[in-house]
Amino acid sequence: MPRIAYVNGVYERTSEAAVSIEDRGYQFADAIYEVWSVFDGRLADMDGHLNRMERSLRELAIEMPMPRSSLLVVLNEVVRRNRIREGMVYLQIGRGVAPRDHLFPVDTRASVVITARPVDRDAAARKAAQGIRAMSAPDIRWGRCDIKTVGLLPNVLAKQAAKARGAGEVIFVDSEGLVTEGGSTNVYIVKEGVIRTRSLTANILAGVTRLNLLPLIAENGIELREESFTLDDAKAASEVFVTAATSLVMPITAIDDHEIGDGKPGPIACALREIYIDRARASAGV
Ligand code: PDD
Repeated sequence: MPRIAYVNGVYERTSEAAVSIEDRGYQFADAIYEVWSVFDGRLADMDGHLNRMERSLRELAIEMPMPRSSLLVVLNEVVRRNRIREGMVYLQIGRGVAPRDHLFPVDTRASVVITARPVDRDAAARKAAQGIRAMSAPDIRWGRCDIKTVGLLPNVLAKQAAKARGAGEVIFVDSEGLVTEGGSTNVYIVKEGVIRTRSLTANILAGVTRLNLLPLIAENGIELREESFTLDDAKAASEVFVTAATSLVMPITAIDDHEIGDGKPGPIACALREIYIDRARASAGV
């Protein structure tokens, strides 16, 4: 079955879909994105992602290309046309097409691209049961990582370097030695039963998974502190895990060849993964 994309008002085969070479997303990374997970054909955490999307657009002064209600219809239609049961949806909204000039074009319509693809949840569960290794890297990104822009080159390069070292995620460390976030995830550590994750600043993305996980942590009687920690704190922790719409809750078993705890996924991370998936499925109406 051919994959179908939504591109500026038209549903077409992904293999044939195209955007202009003067799209500012392509030339300047002048665009934002969102990623939803799909459970049983329905998008999870719809509002959380739409709220963050609207904020990202506001921060870049890009007009909403269509009302929220219409966007919802299109997102669901892309899922339906691709017959996705378990999977993910990618949305990108850019400032649009204009002759290359750093300044904002006048009267240009925002461009919208939506794609969807299946995810093998059994394979993901097997991966989570094993956990993944992480590699630390200096956080060389810009000062507005709270905006979910497509300008991801530092993340791409660091994740590629991690892969070359047998690691599945990067842990970014700022100039003060503090962990910011993962290459495409938020990071948490567990020490003496207390979970710590960096508080929200302009240096990290406010993950929707993070947003929804924090109340679940409290509901399950686990103490949580939103405070910074160093890379050494992470290495000395009993557990480390990361969260994102793609990996959900993923245990980290080693950082830079240093094993975390006994080198196996920790009990708190494993329990939170199950609890989070149940909640995400419920949010999707499954
Ligand atoms: N990334 N931090 C960064 C840098 C991210 O790229 C992501 C998600 C997150 C977690 O956000 P959320 O919980 O809303 O997925 C944190 C997406 C999944 C991606 O780039 O593919």
